[in-house]
Amino acid sequence: MPHSATSKQAGTATLSYDGKSASLPVLTGSLGPACVDVRKLQGELGVFTFDPSYGATASCESAITYIDGDAGILLYRGYPIEQLAEKSTFLEVAYLLLFGNLPNKAELGVFTNGVTRHTMLHEQIRRFWDGFRRDAHPMAMLCSVVGAMSAFYPDSIDTQDPRQREISAYRMIAKIPTITAWAHKYNAGQPFVYPRNDLNYSENFLHMFHAVPAEPYEQNPILTRAMDRILILHADHEQNASTSTVRLAGSTGANPFACIAAGIASLWGPAHGGANEAVLKMLAEIGHKDNIPAFIEQVKDKNSHVKLMGFGHRVYKNFDPRAKIMQQTCYEVLGALGIKDEPMLDLAMELERIALEDEYFVSRKLYPNVDFYSGIILKAMGFPTTMFTPIFALARTVGWISQWMEMIEDPQQRIGRPRQIYTGAAARDYTPIDQRG
Ligand code: ACO
Repeated sequence: MPHSATSKQAGTATLSYDGKSASLPVLTGSLGPACVDVRKLQGELGVFTFDPSYGATASCESAITYIDGDAGILLYRGYPIEQLAEKSTFLEVAYLLLFGNLPNKAELGVFTNGVTRHTMLHEQIRRFWDGFRRDAHPMAMLCSVVGAMSAFYPDSIDTQDPRQREISAYRMIAKIPTITAWAHKYNAGQPFVYPRNDLNYSENFLHMFHAVPAEPYEQNPILTRAMDRILILHADHEQNASTSTVRLAGSTGANPFACIAAGIASLWGPAHGGANEAVLKMLAEIGHKDNIPAFIEQVKDKNSHVKLMGFGHRVYKNFDPRAKIMQQTCYEVLGALGIKDEPMLDLAMELERIALEDEYFVSRKLYPNVDFYSGIILKAMGFPTTMFTPIFALARTVGWISQWMEMIEDPQQRIGRPRQIYTGAAARDYTPIDQRG
């Protein structure tokens, strides 16, 4: 698996402070803005940089995913997301993200076979579910079970062994659909459905999720294709919060299952992967088109702390290319299911129309993100709202593993350790309790 191509020095930037001056390299990659390399800053000027929430900081070199937020461009290993969503399959994209290039037929055959033959879980893992409450959120179950995989597959947790890293990647990509489907089955009180090796990745997930022993489960090719596309669109997104969490955890040498469990925890928040679930809750709360203006006023009122979920993005300030494909997929899915009137979709479209004309959203460059429409599709496909974020986690697992692999293979890699501006008390002496005021 290739590690990131190294950046090149394009110039220097000079920073002066307190009578001293530091000459700092300015680095460029193959695309995107230049970055000032501040690693020497502390040694030369005795200062650190301050960038809470990392909006202005590149944390690594990476050759996996490229985003141009102003132009609305998303590339996986150089390939535009639109082309991959239209022409590729999730497993082909997984191979691309992991290994750097699209596979030929033989390579895809070997990869598909490897994933397919790792889909079953250690039977003892099944027992985990007995310990959860029936109403446990599936993200809680995903976090726990994926973290616990290190206890079941100790032969693939040596992060310094390339073969073990590869096996752990196969295991996670193959088993996460089984874990996700079983989390749902446990919530629903239905029997667990075992994986089937004659089905492709998305078919197998839909089968394990929806099938019941009482009747055969019929695959609908349009829905299978939509599932695959949703997975492709969510597969990677460079250094977002959950991926950075995986990298930070991995930088300590923690095993891959523990790192992915950390990524799942980070994804859960409503500002990140939890947004797809939050969009549907929001639409349900709005209830009717007539209530949109009052809702928009609430969003614009800073004191209300209400956000328009599925809108806005840290990087995309023009449009999210995934949102366009998602909207198109939404029509295809509703068409395939014969749903002519979907009140949630009508409501979402009206909300989008009003928001895109409103000065508040226009001036802040807030546009629909990938999750504005994904929830409507997933709901139409029969997924309960609580399963939306787990499906995102399922898709993102391959991105997290690819980024984790790249980090481990990067010769510049060392433990992640941000600094701080300390604003607490200066050093003071301990006083015995009877002398305190
Ligand atoms: N609704 C209302 N106002 C918003 C929204 C929103 N969804 N998003 C941003 N804003 C406002 C901010 O309050 C801020 O206003 P101000 O300048 O008056 O203080 C302004 O727009 C600029 O926001 P940013 O600082 O650029 O937003 P940030 O990068 O910190 O946050 C985030 C990005 C977390 C995605 C945010 O837009 C948000 O919370 N959106 C809703 C949740 C969501 O859909 N998340 C999914 C993201 S995509 C993903 O993870 C797959």
